[in-house]
Amino acid sequence: MKTRILFVCLGNICRSPAAEGIMHRIVERRGLSGTFGIDSAGTYGGHRGELPDPRMRSAASRRGYALTHRSRQVREEDFDRFDMIVAMDDMNYESLNRLAPSREAARKIFRMAEFCRRHPDRTYVPDPYYEGHEGFELVLDMLEDGCEGILELSLIHISEPTRP
Ligand code: 4NP
Repeated sequence: MKTRILFVCLGNICRSPAAEGIMHRIVERRGLSGTFGIDSAGTYGGHRGELPDPRMRSAASRRGYALTHRSRQVREEDFDRFDMIVAMDDMNYESLNRLAPSREAARKIFRMAEFCRRHPDRTYVPDPYYEGHEGFELVLDMLEDGCEGILELSLIHISEPTRP
């Protein structure tokens, strides 16, 4: 069975498509592409259909990630289609909680910073849109950290023995 992960930010042109690209690469390197379904979306639909922001694409490409996702808005059905919905900041987290169709669905919502082991003082992935170059690098550092954290936890979960 696949573990399906949806990364969510505001515009789906900076943080979440980068998280999607990084997670793809991490699972690919481990030969686990078939075990994961990975996508991203934004709580705001104003950038629908757009490629990631050119600043994020160039920062990501310097680390070897090609970001080709087209922006889309998160929708209620995503709570059926994904096992984990990972919010970048508190505003995304609150928006997702309002969209969740049930309490059970809301339990799928996580904060990316929870999985970042090398950034223990950060509680959210900051919006780089109005920031300079360092803002994008910090986001990529946090996303690499958080995606590795998600993979480790997923592997523990996947390898748990199932009872007959
Ligand atoms: P993201 O960044 O949520 O990481 O994709 C942003 C993209 C666009 C806007 C804000 C944040 N915006 O205001 O259009």
